[in-house]
Amino acid sequence: MLLRHTVCGTLQGARSLSTRASAILSSLDIPAGAAELPGVYDGQWSGSGDVLESVCPTTGEVLARVRSATPHELHEALGKSKEAYLHLRTVPAPKRGELLRQIREALSAKRDVLGALVSLEMGKIKTEGIGEVQEFVDICDYAVGLSRMMNGRVVASERPGHTILEVPNPIGVVGVLTAFNFPVAVYGWNFSLSVAAGNANVWKPSPSTPLCSIAITKIIARVLEKNGIPGAVSTLITGGKDVGEAIVASRDVPLVSFTGSEAVGRVVGKAVQSRFGQSILELGGNNASIIMPDADMSLAVPAVFFGAIGTAGQRCTSTRRLYLHRAIAPKFLDALEKLYATISVGDPLVDDTLLGPLHTRAAVGIYSDAVERLRQSGADILIGGRKYDHAALSQGNFVQPTIAVPKTVDPADKMWSTETFAPILNVGLFDELEQAIEWNNAVPQGLSSSLWTKDIRNVGKWIGPEGSDAGIVNVNVGTSGAEIGAAFGGNKSTGWGRESGGDAWKQYVRWSACTINFSDAAPLAQGVNFST
Ligand code: UN1
Repeated sequence: MLLRHTVCGTLQGARSLSTRASAILSSLDIPAGAAELPGVYDGQWSGSGDVLESVCPTTGEVLARVRSATPHELHEALGKSKEAYLHLRTVPAPKRGELLRQIREALSAKRDVLGALVSLEMGKIKTEGIGEVQEFVDICDYAVGLSRMMNGRVVASERPGHTILEVPNPIGVVGVLTAFNFPVAVYGWNFSLSVAAGNANVWKPSPSTPLCSIAITKIIARVLEKNGIPGAVSTLITGGKDVGEAIVASRDVPLVSFTGSEAVGRVVGKAVQSRFGQSILELGGNNASIIMPDADMSLAVPAVFFGAIGTAGQRCTSTRRLYLHRAIAPKFLDALEKLYATISVGDPLVDDTLLGPLHTRAAVGIYSDAVERLRQSGADILIGGRKYDHAALSQGNFVQPTIAVPKTVDPADKMWSTETFAPILNVGLFDELEQAIEWNNAVPQGLSSSLWTKDIRNVGKWIGPEGSDAGIVNVNVGTSGAEIGAAFGGNKSTGWGRESGGDAWKQYVRWSACTINFSDAAPLAQGVNFST
């Protein structure tokens, strides 16, 4: 992440950008090679604050310089968002659904090039970049349907001639603080439910992926403007910690949805709570797959391979712990190592690449430190454990996917209990399912988990009260790659938040219980008599 203070006018003028980058940017109406891009949108584009640099993790090339918000611009943008909410709340929900349908179409038309931008700026491979834009398209579809189904309830009253309604109404301005690893989809999950519910949104993306947020905001803004809806329904404020803190502290933002680290989530959660706001937290994952002896290896091995290496191990849902039944461990590891050995590493924009770079240089350091700790503890490094040193990869943040077998499975040890956002898979051997479930649950985080078995008795145990305590509990499906239809999120230090499908929409509204008396008497509940 690079956040630099610069004095206006000292930057070089137009720069020449690689054709690889400029072709993608120009197809998304982002001027390639412009000295600086405005990084604030609230109906108008502006930005005269700090400069954010978008750096390509594959080549080290500076893709763009983006001007974030000054405190004054931030204040203005929050004000515009509030006005936009006051307008949008009067628009009937199915009409809001129609806006989302048009946004869905506009995103879908640009899906592949937006996916390419995700690969360029974030570093994930093209099929995954396109996949996350598809997640935004999918959740728009979901929200279009939802816009006709955000139903309250009629409750039976104990008093004659009374009825009770539970009524959902829009909540206000929703702050959406997203992370670098899903620079498109996570805003989509929040934005689409929130707009269906009638709210305006303020998006603060990761400071290292401003281009993805600008491209998405341009597409949404065009649809809003065409429909005469204030652009500040989808406000964008790029920036660093100061912008995040201001949104989190603002009493004009009743709901804050934050995706990021456990450490920052703890601060955000407390700050929002201290003003009695609401938060949705999606923090760390430290996800385990458990392989029973009866598992179908031909499915389980590739699933663990994808879970551990997909997005170069930078999904919240990445597989970081692998618990193997002792009976099949050698065979499983042998097959897994063979797959690891075949991985094609390189430019994430090239079709057959399976492993792109880590997002930042700093992440390479974090990876190296974690591997070093494993080595020093006496872990057996089966494969990987180093940066790639071929000349062709030297400009990017490329690290070898690593499989390690630590000496013991001690869930309290840092190597098992902390999440390292890199392709490192720790392996432990067990004899009984109960032991593996205990290890699965013994870490602070509780996002995703996966059991591989054909025995229905194991399945029952795994999904029941004695089973996995994570928010995502899969069977014969890996830890990552969830669909939008189910609520996404985790328990314990993952933050208990739920986004996307399921009942997640219920958090984006304020609920009122409305008791209506249509009789000629006014009796009190519980038979209380208060007459003189
Ligand atoms: C994340 O890593 O923050 O389930 C989100 C998955 C994706 C979303 C991951 N659909 O892996």
